[in-house]
Amino acid sequence: MATMAALLREEERLDELDPLRHLRGDDNADANHADEVLSDGFIIPAQRPSIIDQLQTLSFPPLIPELQLSIDAGPGSGGIAWPAGEALARYLCLREERNRGWIKGKTVLELGAGTGLVGLVVAKLGATDVLITDQKPLLCLIDRNIGLNGLRTACQAVEFNWGERLPYPMEKTTCDLILAADCVYFEPAFALLVQTLCDLTARSPSAEIFFCYKKRRKADKRFFILLKKHFKWEDVEDDPQRPVYSRDAILLLRLHRRPTKQ
Ligand SMILES: C[S@@+](CC[C@H](N)C(=O)[O-])C[C@H]1O[C@@H](n2cnc3c(N)ncnc32)[C@H](O)[C@@H]1O
Repeated sequence: MATMAALLREEERLDELDPLRHLRGDDNADANHADEVLSDGFIIPAQRPSIIDQLQTLSFPPLIPELQLSIDAGPGSGGIAWPAGEALARYLCLREERNRGWIKGKTVLELGAGTGLVGLVVAKLGATDVLITDQKPLLCLIDRNIGLNGLRTACQAVEFNWGERLPYPMEKTTCDLILAADCVYFEPAFALLVQTLCDLTARSPSAEIFFCYKKRRKADKRFFILLKKHFKWEDVEDDPQRPVYSRDAILLLRLHRRPTKQ
């Protein structure tokens, strides 16, 4: 039987050949969205995978009139901004609009950040200690985006592979907010992501966790089966954008750690 390490190596090899392969759903959750569904039935976001070293300007009015994002599909699937990340970023802006100062001074960790969009947005809103994490190939892009938006004081791009030891800056500190968008698509990583969420909440038991999920495959259910052993969750219902992104099979959840057995 193939070991997990061999399986992961093979998956990494296939990822290099086609960085976006996991994001091509095999059971499109909402096939009515013709703009997102190509003739071969694959789902891809509005940006095409041929994006190489481009600059995108996003706007989150009224609090963030402009955010610059360098995007590049070269380093992998995270090199472009996915709709779930944008949905989460917009919700966090709305929260700040409703409750000014809510995010000020907060310590935040973003998992699987890709371009770093969500982390950049919370830093723009006033979070002062933002660890924007992903795997090594994405770090340059994240770092470039931090610089582009003048957020070097508040943000750091940090390598963090799920399932591994928490990144160094997290070993001695706690965080107030844990964010993840569009991180459920690669089955061998499901248990690793759940392990990371457990490790983070063990370190920061009172952290709020926002988890924005894009449903692509039936297999995603296995992630939620694993997650359910350690976390409860609820839909974020106070988001006026919810009817819009839920049409694209995007769900915004707030996770809560179940009490651990002594
Ligand atoms: C679909 S992208 C989403 C990126 C970003 N959150 C967004 O919404 O635009 C998934 C991200 O998860 C990261 N990722 C996948 N497996 C990972 C792992 N085992 N450890 C850390 N990050 C991982 C990828 O590198 C990628 O950036």
